[in-house]
Amino acid sequence: MTLTCIGVGPGDPELLTIKAVRLIEEADVIVVPVKKQASTESTALKIAQPYIKDMSKVKYLYFPMVAFQKDDEQIQQIFRHNAQMINEDLGAGKKVVYLTLGDPSVYCTFTYIADYIDHVTYVPGIASFLQGAAHIGQPLCLGKESLAIINMTDDERTIRQAFQLHDNLVVMKVSANPKLLHELIVQDNRPATFLSNMGLENEMVTSDRGFLEGKVPYFTVAQVKR
Ligand SMILES: C[S@@+](CC[C@H](N)C(=O)[O-])C[C@H]1O[C@@H](n2cnc3c(N)ncnc32)[C@H](O)[C@@H]1O
Repeated sequence: MTLTCIGVGPGDPELLTIKAVRLIEEADVIVVPVKKQASTESTALKIAQPYIKDMSKVKYLYFPMVAFQKDDEQIQQIFRHNAQMINEDLGAGKKVVYLTLGDPSVYCTFTYIADYIDHVTYVPGIASFLQGAAHIGQPLCLGKESLAIINMTDDERTIRQAFQLHDNLVVMKVSANPKLLHELIVQDNRPATFLSNMGLENEMVTSDRGFLEGKVPYFTVAQVKR
């Protein structure tokens, strides 16, 4: 059997694809990632909840959502354990889906365990920054302009280079280093929009740079132009 990793979009349950909804409805087991051990709090689950009739199908797998080295044996052990749980259900002939926020190809923790799972297919979802562009009503890139997707957990040199090179930037995980982002935006006077908790509780959208000087929510993406 094959595990299907499904992107559930950034927040609004109406932004799941028809295929995603069908596969969730047909699944025997619905795996969702949780940030804390024994927790049942999952944003991906909240988004897909309207399509889950039987909550007993949901399995909560703990994923440490922290920066780590690929050779961290403790972390790899958790990933292997998670993969084993999934492989057992697949081996028993069950239809298993894994729900992930946004799109599975964008900074998705599932990627770390994919190698340990026998067969995986993916269903794309709407990435947070695509919903952001729709919300603002502006293209991410146009004509000959370049677009880079970066994240603020990256090293400072890489982030600075991206700002020098690219016309448009999607900046993810803003809360990891709002101070540096503020500096780079102010330095070149670049227009930027900050979008927090899109489609979720406490949604907020602003172009005020002062936003970066306060407490920035984890679910914040910035769209920066030249
Ligand atoms: C681990 S990454 C997951 C990205 C996701 N796979 C995607 O396609 O958007 C988490 C980051 O995505 C962005 N993000 C995800 N959902 C969001 C939302 N609803 N509102 C604002 N930003 C969001 C934030 O930058 C957050 O720090």
